[in-house]
Amino acid sequence: MRVKITIQRFNPDKDVKSHPEDYFIEAGRETTVLLALLKIKSEIDGTLTFRSSCRAAICGSCLIQINGIQKLACQTSVFEELDHHGKLVIGPMANMPVIKDMVIKMDPFWDKIKKVRPYVVSQKGSEAVPSEGLKTIQKDLHNADACIMCGACLSACNSFEASPQFLGPAALAKAYRFQVDPRDESRAQRLDDLQGDDGIWDCVRCVYCVQVCPKDVAPMEQIIRLRRKSIESGLGNSIGARHITQFVSIVGENGHLNESRLPLMMLLGNISKLIQMIPLSVKMFFRGKAPMPFGDPQPGHKDVRSIFKGKNK
Ligand code: SF4
Ligand code: SF4
Ligand code: FES
Repeated sequence: MRVKITIQRFNPDKDVKSHPEDYFIEAGRETTVLLALLKIKSEIDGTLTFRSSCRAAICGSCLIQINGIQKLACQTSVFEELDHHGKLVIGPMANMPVIKDMVIKMDPFWDKIKKVRPYVVSQKGSEAVPSEGLKTIQKDLHNADACIMCGACLSACNSFEASPQFLGPAALAKAYRFQVDPRDESRAQRLDDLQGDDGIWDCVRCVYCVQVCPKDVAPMEQIIRLRRKSIESGLGNSIGARHITQFVSIVGENGHLNESRLPLMMLLGNISKLIQMIPLSVKMFFRGKAPMPFGDPQPGHKDVRSIFKGKNK
């Protein structure tokens, strides 16, 4: 069947910005987007530029945007996309600098991976591996080791788009992978390194990284594991950690969340941030958007308290 494929093209030698171009090819039920791109390149336009290697969802190099979603071209069916969206529009990964057509600069991705030291830190060598540790490591990894470094999660990440310094989903999933490796002697330091402004507390839990990951690494879930581990290890003083602990404590005490008390409790000890919050808090209060910070508890709060007590037994 003859199908139309729209490709976002960009050539830095002649284009100021990218533009769509339509191509028509014969495709069958078995045609993947990567096969379609290879066909266009060999039969219609040899200048079309994209990356690929394994053609089997292993190397991660063919990741592009297909109908607006980050996907591996070699794993995506042309017909399924047409059935689902009624069109096939292809472009480079979002949030990354484009070199040409679908080839993007992966430097932001690799810089973040390097920052989390993606290797075992050990003075003792492999003989020092506790055998019971190796037996349990696979279960504790929760698939964090399945990453093929395709970059889909970073490209889809809301926090990275707003704040390019954020370490991002793939690097944080990698950081979790070394948190549960019994050979690593730097786990406490690693966890401490993730507490800063660009670390685990910067994720806004939009779930996009989980949705687009082709290998079910579920980076956001690894970030949540790192957060839990941080609080359990006594690293509970960052604003992000205090947001969680104070949220739980206010709901447990009052039966509901008091939106005015939460920022106060979070920012105690951080006077400059607290002062910055005052104009917004006052405005919200007078517009009826924020309750009294120390108002009466919600009716039925005793029932909620008993649920929390039961949970903590
Ligand atoms: S859940 Fe967090 S890490 Fe994942 S894409 Fe959203 S903001 Fe980024
Ligand atoms: S975590 Fe998933 S989406 Fe992110 S780079 Fe690894 S394989 Fe790709
Ligand atoms: S070509 Fe290797 S993952 Fe698609």
